[in-house]
Amino acid sequence: MKNSYFDLIEQSYYFPQEGFDLRDNYLTFHGISLKYLIKKYGTPFRFIYLPKIGDQIKKSRNLFNKAIKKNSYQGRYHYCYCTKCNHFSHVINEALKHNVNLETSSSYDIDLILNLFHDHKIQKSRIIVHNGYKTEEYLRKILSLQKLGFNNNIIVLDSINELKRVEKLANGEKLKIGIRMAINEESQSAYYTSRLGIRHTKIVEFYNENIKGKENIELKMLHFFVDSGIKDSLYYWGEFQKALKLYIDLKKQCEELDSFNLGGGFPIRNHLGFEYNYEYMINEIITNIKNACTQENIPDPHIFTEFGKYTVGESGAIIFEVLEQKQQNDTESWYIVNNSLMNTIPDAWSIFEKFILLPINKWDNEYRRANIGGISCDHSDYYNSEDFNQEVLLPTYSDDDEEPLYLGFFHTGAYQDAISGYGGIKHCLIPSPKHVIIDRDERGNFIDYVYRNEQSAEEMFKILGYNKNEDTEGES
Ligand SMILES: Cc1ncc(COP(=O)(O)O)c(C=O)c1O
Repeated sequence: MKNSYFDLIEQSYYFPQEGFDLRDNYLTFHGISLKYLIKKYGTPFRFIYLPKIGDQIKKSRNLFNKAIKKNSYQGRYHYCYCTKCNHFSHVINEALKHNVNLETSSSYDIDLILNLFHDHKIQKSRIIVHNGYKTEEYLRKILSLQKLGFNNNIIVLDSINELKRVEKLANGEKLKIGIRMAINEESQSAYYTSRLGIRHTKIVEFYNENIKGKENIELKMLHFFVDSGIKDSLYYWGEFQKALKLYIDLKKQCEELDSFNLGGGFPIRNHLGFEYNYEYMINEIITNIKNACTQENIPDPHIFTEFGKYTVGESGAIIFEVLEQKQQNDTESWYIVNNSLMNTIPDAWSIFEKFILLPINKWDNEYRRANIGGISCDHSDYYNSEDFNQEVLLPTYSDDDEEPLYLGFFHTGAYQDAISGYGGIKHCLIPSPKHVIIDRDERGNFIDYVYRNEQSAEEMFKILGYNKNEDTEGES
């Protein structure tokens, strides 16, 4: 009996499944022939399938609105896209077509907002949630955005010191602010409490001593983000309940507080057996908030989410060709692909992130266990069953085959470009620092000079596909 790769997949998972199917024994992605793309572009290549972005946004909105209706919830749901997840103009433009609000995380993100504004992609009324560590430059740019007329800026304080710094720069100007609650990490973490945000036990006191009664400062939002994801686990619900209780305590002190921000962390499909009940989780979130607020006799807050990976992750993929198979001992065989995994899906190497891995062709062949290796000379440039706690089984092939084996890593649309520094962009658009060379002359005196200055916002935007507008008003 032949045990083909197709039999394996069909017996192990529901297949075909959302986005994945076979046509003439070649894999398709959302109905698109990958064979056609390989023929047209050659390998390796990465691609992004834009319509999936809108589908994800609509799905989340629909489920939140359904739960809101079911629970007679009085607050509204606001979908924000977390730009750091994928800053490319084609991605952000696609998300904006679905009227998302935006969440920023660093200074150059404000230049990005200005770019979008000058390109008539957003209006001044768009809600912009400013997260992340606030450098002086970041704060100045946020305030300049406000001067330009953006009247729905919410500055989420990441630390107690940020308030004094922003007040000084704002010089009496009205500010809408949020407070980020620092979460406790999961038990396997290397530390107990996140560095991001303010200790939850200090927040009410901080509000009463530093914000209450100030006419120009409105506390609008409480923010928390469980970065290991919104999961139906004791840990997630523990942090959620802590944040909810804090919201209620703060609301009793602060009339203008009206928004509860859950951050990001909605999961995506990273293997074919992935099961997650989005509808159940969203309904539980809304029901819990509703019940707690009704019990305490306070109004239901507006709900904000800042989904990054969920918005764009499932749109992306990268396709490789297997260059060679190597049997290195009796049990271990390697498939060497024609690029580097460290360079193209860095999260697999650095944080053991799983992606959906599927062959594009040869589904009728038998299967075998394989390690996948990149062509860099780095020992860590691999993907295998050991590290990913998931069998890496792929079709066998013969070296005499006319057509090589093609492999795809799917759902790679989030973070991978920024973290791998695609073309010179950087994670959170935090620029490469100045590069200084130090040498000594013949007499032994040292000499130093700048090889390259800090990367500019314009340099990054060129790579990201934005039109540079020379006379951008409001830039500081
Ligand atoms: C403040 C904040 N919001 C949202 C996100 C997006 O998270 P995810 O991509 O898991 O949805 C992040 C990611 O680090 C974040 O730091």
